[in-house]
Amino acid sequence: MSGEPLVARCPAKINLALRVLRRLDDGYHELDTVFQAIDLHDRLELRPGGDLLLECDAPGVPTDGENLVLRAARLLAEHAGLVDPPGAALRLVKQIPAQGGLGGGSSDAAAALRLFALHWDLRLDEAELHSLARRLGADVPFFLVGGTARGSGRGDRIEALPHFGERSLVLGLPPFGVPTGELFSRLADRLTLPGIGVSLPLFSGLKWPPENDFGFMVNDLEAVVFDDWPELGRFRDALLEAGAAKALLSGSGSTVYGIFDSEDRAREASNRLSPSFASWSVVTANTIEQGAEVLTPDR
Ligand code: C5P
Repeated sequence: MSGEPLVARCPAKINLALRVLRRLDDGYHELDTVFQAIDLHDRLELRPGGDLLLECDAPGVPTDGENLVLRAARLLAEHAGLVDPPGAALRLVKQIPAQGGLGGGSSDAAAALRLFALHWDLRLDEAELHSLARRLGADVPFFLVGGTARGSGRGDRIEALPHFGERSLVLGLPPFGVPTGELFSRLADRLTLPGIGVSLPLFSGLKWPPENDFGFMVNDLEAVVFDDWPELGRFRDALLEAGAAKALLSGSGSTVYGIFDSEDRAREASNRLSPSFASWSVVTANTIEQGAEVLTPDR
């Protein structure tokens, strides 16, 4: 009934840049974005045997069929033509907040694809996994790659980039999330805002990795988000005052992050900002080169 668990690490991401190029007919938006994996992780364990069940330590995270982890398992079983596949007990340990623009659910889903492919002994190539990932959500394919990568289309067409480099970050996680879908629809109501329809694709003439030139780091969603959640704009300003070389909204928020010259500077800034943003979680983090990966693939 029970065997050794398979364990996967599911990193968060930030967007180093995010341009909204246009609205597509299906309501999605064409993006040009640069993802960066960071060392804030969820952990997903799969213990073979029994019925397919998910438990999670974070209140408010659904553990029914709605959870992306179980949707990933179902999609994979369907794709592989498995009618009654062997079950498993799944345990999800959350560190990445929901609706934070950090891709937590998407990273968990990418990890689930890798874990179940092992559990069911499926030999899938990366292209097949990517096409399944894309069906689970626009951010999921990035986590199959990790590190630094450019996303085009809906953000789901991934091209790995040379690593952005080891960077020290401060993340500000407010006590509320920003619902991505709703945010994008608000963007559609404000077609006059700079950003949509006028943004140029990233990277024209840009040298990569850009060393200490952070001019490419723009996020077109900031205009709408900072308007509607001014506290996030205030945190961005506070990061800059605390010495960040650059500060930006991640994805559609609610996380705002800053890049610092060293871990010491990042720690100092986080200590300095914490008291003024008492209901927030202000933490340090680092960029990493990995994506969602299985840690114990003994077969
Ligand atoms: O793909 P995912 O489920 O993560 O996207 C959440 C929502 O964000 C979508 O339902 C859509 O409203 C919006 N979105 C968008 N354009 C994208 C990605 C997401 O409009 N490229």
